Amino acid sequence: MESLIPTINKLQDVFAAVGAREAEIQLPQIVVVGSQSAGKSSVIEAVVGRDFLPRGVGIVTRRPLLLQLCHVPLNERETRQGRKDDWARFEHTGEKIFEDFELVRKEIEDETDRLTGSNKGIAAAPISLKIFSHRVVNLTLVDLPGMTKLPVGDQPTNIEEQIREMIMHYITNPNSIILAVTPANQDFATSEPLKMARDVDPEGARTLAVLTKLDLMDHGTDALDVLTGQLVQVKLGIIGVVNRSQADIKNKKPIDEALRDEEGYLVRKYPTLATRQGTRYLAKTLNRLLMHHIRECLPSLKNRVNVLMGQCVTLLNSYGEPVEDKNRTLLQIITRFSTAYTTTIEGTARNIETQELC
Ligand code: GDP
Ligand code: NA
Ligand code: MG
Repeated sequence: MESLIPTINKLQDVFAAVGAREAEIQLPQIVVVGSQSAGKSSVIEAVVGRDFLPRGVGIVTRRPLLLQLCHVPLNERETRQGRKDDWARFEHTGEKIFEDFELVRKEIEDETDRLTGSNKGIAAAPISLKIFSHRVVNLTLVDLPGMTKLPVGDQPTNIEEQIREMIMHYITNPNSIILAVTPANQDFATSEPLKMARDVDPEGARTLAVLTKLDLMDHGTDALDVLTGQLVQVKLGIIGVVNRSQADIKNKKPIDEALRDEEGYLVRKYPTLATRQGTRYLAKTLNRLLMHHIRECLPSLKNRVNVLMGQCVTLLNSYGEPVEDKNRTLLQIITRFSTAYTTTIEGTARNIETQELC
């Protein structure tokens, strides 16, 4: 995600300078769908690079979690009473700041229970969490309860229906990128999340398939036919990952170590495919999709800036001839300003256009 930060910041500076709040770049939100325990929460954590989500066997995610990543420039962050690390805030706890991500996880669990009870109930009301960091771009990820068929505990008899509705609510939004998560030890050809994704995105323009649990496939089998798209094709790609196992979670295996082990595993087991697999490659791919989106928005953003500049000039002209000032006239100052920003936006646009996208 980090390579996107300078581009987006620059563009956002331009819009702030011309006062174009509404022209801000709306990045797509990333929605993770899949069956229960497919590894959705694990995938989100790995992409964000932080441990903070409840994960585990069975239905752990029982309310949608809207996770807003908020970029904070380094200098601003340091003036916050010497705060060095990332921090989090929930909508339901107001101004309270969480610096310990273990407590973030606990608060998600507690807030889930508050609305759904502790016996596996579900609720459509989302939990909103913001994570502030200099290492993220402004981006929203949505973690959802997994698809399931049979109700357990306090779950309603129509739980399958209810979860399906929840998922549809998020993936029908054309501004959503769908991460369809299927475990490698289940049949990929009949993957439910892919079917749902296809219903709302028949062109496959915003669906990316993620194959989790590569390490848990039956002895003597592999996922070559799935990963190479021979079984089912997914236009934007099928990316295999190895997340931390339940034992790894129990032993608090750090994310960095998990990423290294994943890489080792992929190189050993899929030497010919390894460079296009794994969590890091998934993050890169998401980056590329976001960059693509920004590039598509650029023409209308440029127009918007031009219109605003035109309005400024008209306004200035209506004040009559500029008065000569010893130093600089207002008009000169503003003209310089607009020229500088037009140059910036065009420069940024060129950079994005020349960036290689595949
Ligand atoms: P979710 O219900 O889809 O959000 O799935 P979670 O992220 O909570 O993961 C469910 C369980 O599967 C947890 O115990 C994870 O440790 C485990 N898990 C997830 N991905 C993998 C993987 O790639 N390999 C292994 N061995 N376990 C995984
Ligand atoms: Na789970
Ligand atoms: Mg989950």
